[in-house]
Amino acid sequence: MADARPFHWEFEPDQVDREVFRIEGGRRLEGTVRISGAKNAALKLMAAATLTGERCRFTNVPEIEDVRVLAEVLRDIGVTVDHPAPNTYELACGDAEWLFVPLEAAAKMRASFILLGPLLARFGRVIISNPGGDRIGRRPVNLHVDAMRALGAEIDYRNGYYFAKAPGRLRGGHVVFPQITVMGTENAMLAAVLADGHTVIEPAAQEPEVDDLIEFLQQMGAEVERTSPTRIEIEGRRRLRGADHRVVPDRIEAGTFIVAAGVTHGRVTLQDAPCDHLGAFLGVMADVGVSVHCGRDTIEVDATEADLRPLRGCDIETDPYPGLATDLQPPICVLLSQTEGISHVHETVFEDRLEWLGELRRMGARVEISDSHHATIEGPSPLHGAEVEIGDLRAGASLILAALAANGTTTIRGAHHVHRGYEKIDRKFLELGARIERLAEGT
Ligand code: EPU
Repeated sequence: MADARPFHWEFEPDQVDREVFRIEGGRRLEGTVRISGAKNAALKLMAAATLTGERCRFTNVPEIEDVRVLAEVLRDIGVTVDHPAPNTYELACGDAEWLFVPLEAAAKMRASFILLGPLLARFGRVIISNPGGDRIGRRPVNLHVDAMRALGAEIDYRNGYYFAKAPGRLRGGHVVFPQITVMGTENAMLAAVLADGHTVIEPAAQEPEVDDLIEFLQQMGAEVERTSPTRIEIEGRRRLRGADHRVVPDRIEAGTFIVAAGVTHGRVTLQDAPCDHLGAFLGVMADVGVSVHCGRDTIEVDATEADLRPLRGCDIETDPYPGLATDLQPPICVLLSQTEGISHVHETVFEDRLEWLGELRRMGARVEISDSHHATIEGPSPLHGAEVEIGDLRAGASLILAALAANGTTTIRGAHHVHRGYEKIDRKFLELGARIERLAEGT
């Protein structure tokens, strides 16, 4: 069963590479959309499954390219990865055969570096490629490596690979990060749950996906707890057991659909949506004038009033959670291009995450990029169809939003970036009344 191919993938990656989205804009989005499980939780949960030889079962796993790639990487090291039904994965990591995570995996998906902590803790050694950078900046992994060293690991770096060893067993320690890091926190946690003794991680990232991972680790029998908002404490265990878990809903996907309703002056209901995890983002929606109401598991968005009363510009600054998510900065920028006045954007988390605004400018937005962390957007400016290119996942989803709001037809190249992290995004928009097609490039 280990080699079973996921049965409902509609394309292979090489086909995905040649895909474009073609969108005819100017239609109000209306209806209901279901929010999928969070990419940034699912990947870490799958990595956590390597901490035990017993079977782990995940539901609400998004059917996205990153999950498929991680499943392949795990199969390559000997993990049994089954995909018995859509959105369900079962993993069993007996004795891993080959504790090597190659460059190919790291190049496809930076998040493969999350395997460092759990493989090192469980098997005492791993060779893992340096994921390097991507289109949103340099993205070093020094903080992950320092965290492992604080837990007693010996790590050498040669020819683009980290050679990591834990002589005997990792030992608990004090992991102090000089800045907040989401995956750094998670990697440290995944190592410390099997280490000998007590570990304190601070300042620990507070993202909801980190807490989803804590919840799963507790189900596995790990002694791990957030003892203050920015501190996680762990008492290492010798062994963990298999567990079942439902992946937390994707707050970034939810934010993307809320903005989609906003820019098309639409009315959309989000189901399985995590309102509690969207605090700072909902503050921005209130400032702009998009009406958002939270129910138990639903969010109602109504932007139809924008026909009568223009939306308002506002200044935004990204920050680690509970601040405004950097992953929602690109969608918000599309919305700000449709609001009245001048909005200032301060991206504090990543360098180069404003570069994609050049593509938004090609669609008619008035955008000034002052430096790698600051931009100014003046609105409202009518957007028009254009040929644009996606550079990374969140910029890609945001270009779709811009195309939905634009007059005329937009062709967006580089669709594979979006399939990395959004489940059936074209189908979801179609069901809300958008005119969106996925085509092979050149058709
Ligand atoms: N950083 C370092 N050294 C490190 C690690 C991070 O200098 O060893 C820096 C980064 O360059 C960045 C800052 O620290 O400037 C924060 O980065 P962080 O480590 O928090 O980011 P990450 O864990 O690599 C995750 C998400 C990102 C999301 C960020 C911030 C996953 C797989 N990725 O990345 O998601 O933007 O946290 O919330 O969880 C996305 O989904 O599109 C995405 C990029």
